[in-house]
Amino acid sequence: MFGNNNSSIDNETIELLENAQSRIRQKKNVYRHFIFYLFVSGFFLFVDLVLAVGKTLSIFNYSWSIWVLLIWTFILLYHLFDVFISKKIINKKWVSNQKSHLIEIQKEKIKSLRKDIEIESKIYAESNSNNSNQMVTIIVAASENDVIGDNNKLIWHLSKDLIRFKNLTKGHHVIMGRKTFESMPKALPNRTNVVITRNKNYTAENIVVVDSIENALKVCKDDPQPFIIGGGEIYKLGLEYSKRIELTRVHHNFEGDTIFPEIDKEIWKEVKKIKMFDIENHDYNFSFITYDKFS
Ligand SMILES: NC(=O)c1ccc[n+]([C@@H]2O[C@H](COP(=O)([O-])OP(=O)(O)OC[C@H]3O[C@@H](n4cnc5c(N)ncnc54)[C@H](OP(=O)(O)O)[C@@H]3O)[C@@H](O)[C@H]2O)c1
Repeated sequence: MFGNNNSSIDNETIELLENAQSRIRQKKNVYRHFIFYLFVSGFFLFVDLVLAVGKTLSIFNYSWSIWVLLIWTFILLYHLFDVFISKKIINKKWVSNQKSHLIEIQKEKIKSLRKDIEIESKIYAESNSNNSNQMVTIIVAASENDVIGDNNKLIWHLSKDLIRFKNLTKGHHVIMGRKTFESMPKALPNRTNVVITRNKNYTAENIVVVDSIENALKVCKDDPQPFIIGGGEIYKLGLEYSKRIELTRVHHNFEGDTIFPEIDKEIWKEVKKIKMFDIENHDYNFSFITYDKFS
């Protein structure tokens, strides 16, 4: 729409400019005509009346030069009339139409720009007010080689990690992919379970179903700290929107089919680390590491 407006404004403006140039040309021509007329008239009168060349060509007692000048005077008057009266009237009307047309186009453009600005500022204000104080947090347990699951199951059982998960996420929204949800016996109690799926008919007890990470975050907009709890696909989508990662690093390598994306150390800075080594009834050493986003 803007493109069309722009091009029509350009064309109209060019037309106005060309018209103004043509008016200047017309006036210059009249002026030249008049000067030429004066010069040649003087010359003819001199040749005819002073030098008496062609004296025999007088008609009705007027010599040839008077006739020529009379006819030429009419032509000159017609030229003056055409440029300064008839063309001026027609041109005035055309210019005024052209101007109102241009003003209309400009008004439309301003209206449309205002609308765009309103929409943009609304989006900006909304995104600012929604996200500025919200700590969207990824919570994940990953092995040294970034494996987080296999065959839609967790690989290890670390009860201290589960307790920490429970304590951190209690009372908050937990966002998860459909597969992670189905790997659990039921929705996690004392939390709002938000499940992401492309299946529009998906339902289950005690969950909120959404079709994108953005809509999941919209559901959580009043929660100061919603948690993204997996799995692999949803972590990948969620990294962009998260400000914190609560990682349980299991100090062992595992085989598995689901991987946590590599943590970019240019973006994420380790702010806390608690080593959980040689804990009773735990098969592996692990550490709780907190990363905050710094860019
Ligand atoms: N170690 C940990 O901390 C941890 C935590 C959580 C999970 N896990 C493990 O991770 C594994 C599951 O992870 P996963 O990557 O296979 O699956 P997932 O991320 O849990 O869920 C994937 C599903 O989410 C939906 N989805 C993905 N992207 C979407 C998008 N852009 N828009 C709409 N819906 C979208 C799709 O559901 P539909 O197919 O229904 O459309 C997709 O099949 C399991 O092994 C689990 O045990 C580990």
